[in-house]
Formats: sequence, structure tokens, C-alpha cells
Amino acid sequence: MKNISPKLARGIMVNAIKNIARKKPLAISFEITHSCNANCSHCDKNGIIKDEKLAPPERFDEIYQELRPVFAQVSGGEPLLRDDYLDVVKLFRSHGTLPLVSFVSNAALMTPDKYLELTKAGVDQFSFSLDMPDERHDKNRAIPGLFDHLSDIVPKMAAMGYHNVAMISVIRKQSLPYLVDIAKKAMEWNASITFSSYTQLRTNSDEHSLKTEEDFKLLREQIGKLIEMRRKGACIINSEPVFKNMITFFETNSIPNCRTGYRHHVVNPDGSFVPCAMHKVNFDTHQELVENFTKKNTCTACYVPLRANTELSVKDLLSGFGVPYLRERFQRNGN
Ligand SMILES: C[S@@+](CC[C@H](N)C(=O)[O-])C[C@H]1O[C@@H](n2cnc3c(N)ncnc32)[C@H](O)[C@@H]1O
Ligand code: SF4
Repeated sequence: MKNISPKLARGIMVNAIKNIARKKPLAISFEITHSCNANCSHCDKNGIIKDEKLAPPERFDEIYQELRPVFAQVSGGEPLLRDDYLDVVKLFRSHGTLPLVSFVSNAALMTPDKYLELTKAGVDQFSFSLDMPDERHDKNRAIPGLFDHLSDIVPKMAAMGYHNVAMISVIRKQSLPYLVDIAKKAMEWNASITFSSYTQLRTNSDEHSLKTEEDFKLLREQIGKLIEMRRKGACIINSEPVFKNMITFFETNSIPNCRTGYRHHVVNPDGSFVPCAMHKVNFDTHQELVENFTKKNTCTACYVPLRANTELSVKDLLSGFGVPYLRERFQRNGN
């Protein structure tokens, strides 16, 4: 994971506190296209969309400037399918060290050169999807050779030394026995790993859902091992509170008090506002989203990273960033 300087940590804290107080999002996922070159069995974004209405990069930046989230995630669909993905990143970065920009991709079109270009343009963190620790990844994504491609490019990108390469893996019934193996594969490639939770709301199918007591037992075992690995220094991004909530989510099929609109939300390729990738109700403004969705929202049906990482308690949210800041103050005061 990339090191965050004390100065940047302070900026993140101030920005986060401001946005929590203003009821403005901490993170926005900009889904810059819904076209995709994959056909994942667990996702609803499959195939190329003809004549898709795409907002220009300036529209995404305008939304950033209005709401000033700490995190701007560039995602999709597959963001590398757009010709102007670099411009989106450059515009976000033009405001300084914030927002922190993440880039989520299946990496089929990624090359070390494109990675370098994106890093120099201002991406702080890449998340490349990895569904299985071997060639079964290709079958799940319907992209032959994708696992070999990742095995080739991920170590090359990680070796450039920017510490910003992570894999992202959805926990679902089919991947459940292999979570530790997936983490070890990421580490073998010198990348970090983050886990997310399958939501059936996206596909309207429980094919990938965890249902039995046996599933939950395996989940607890695998997550227990991941937490142990993390305590010993493995680059596993999920915090322990997030891992614990994931277990609750799978066991009860619910995490209450969704804060979409206040802590996070999604922007569609055409520049409209949606609560998330699951609820496809469009709004023209953030205020309309809050008035017409957030204030009436009783949905409890996902625990995707956008939600998981922004709905932690203020204490859990800030501790990660606050500690380096306090350390700096401590050292500066000579205490
Ligand atoms: C929608 S994709 C977009 C970015 C890119 N195309 C990719 O595959 O990484 C973002 C992440 O959402 C995950 N995802 C897709 N369907 C999901 C579902 N039903 N529940 C939870 N996560 C899902 C994907 O596996 C991927 O890691
Ligand atoms: S819990 Fe919130 S973010 Fe998740 S599906 Fe429901 S409305 Fe969307």
C-alpha cells in the first residue's frame, strides 16, 4: 500500500470531517462507462453498450468540485474502454493531492506502460479484479488468458515501486474455499489485496450467495486466517471492523443504516447520480438523490467496499489517517 505522508493524512482528516458535517460523500464511484469487455458470472455489467451516452471528463470533475469527496473512484464497466480515461484522472489530480484517486479495472487492456501513465497522471491506488487464484478466473470472467496476463503484468507493475497495486476479490460461494490462496497469489505478485462481498441485488441471482451453516463456518475460518495474516504484516487492506461486518452481512443478509448519499454514492457514465450500482434510479443532482432516495432508504442489501469503507464509525474511519498525523505533531513538539 502507498504510504500516506502526515501532511496528506491531515488533509484527509480535515476534508473527511468537513464532509461528514456537511452530509456530503466521503467517496464517489465514477462509473465512466457501463460497457465491459468481460462477462463475469457474478456481475450485471456484461458486454459492449452501443451508443452509450457518455458525459465528458469535465462533467465528472464538476461533480468532484461541487462535493469534494476524499476519494474519487474511477470504475465501470471497464474504464479502460474509454479513450479519455486519462483525462478524467488528470482533472481530479489538477486540484492537488486530494482527492485520493483509485482506478478499478479487470486489467485485460492494462499494460505496464498504461499503468505508468495513469500513475503519473495521479492514480493513488489501483484495484485489479482477481476472482480465483488460477485459470478459473478466466472462466468466471469469460476472458481466456486473463490470469496469465495478470501473472505477467502485476509483478512488473509492482516492481516499479509505486506501492499502489492491489487486487480486489469478491467473496462469493465459489471463491469461499480459496480466499487465503487468492491473498497469497496477490502477495506472490507483490500486490496488496482487498476483499469485497457478493451482493445478489446486482444480478438478481443467489447463485453466488452464501446460504448454509457450512458456508458461514468456512467464511469465518478463512476470514480468521486472513486477519491473522494481516496482523503479521500481510498487505490485506480490509480492516478488522470491515472483516467482522462482512461476516455479519453474509450470515444475516443485511447491514442496516445504509448512508448512500451522505457517505458514498455512484455517478453514472452520463453524469447522473445514482445511490449505488444496485439501485438504478437516476437523479440530476446530489440534493435530489438525498431528498428522493437517501431520506427514505431502508435498503440493507449490500456490503460493497464503497459502503464498507465509508460507513465505519468516525473513530475507525479516522484512526488510520489520524495516527500518522499525531505522530508528526508529537515529533515536531519534541515530546
Ligand atoms: C463492476 S467492476 C468494474 C471495474 C472492472 N470492470 C472490474 O471488473 O474490476 C468493480 C468490482 O465489482 C465487483 N462486482 C461485480 N459484481 C458484483 C456483485 N454482484 N457483488 C459484489 N461485487 C461485484 C467486480 O468483481 C469488481 O471487483
Ligand atoms: S445497502 Fe445502500 S448501497 Fe447497498 S444496495 Fe442498498 S442502497 Fe445500495
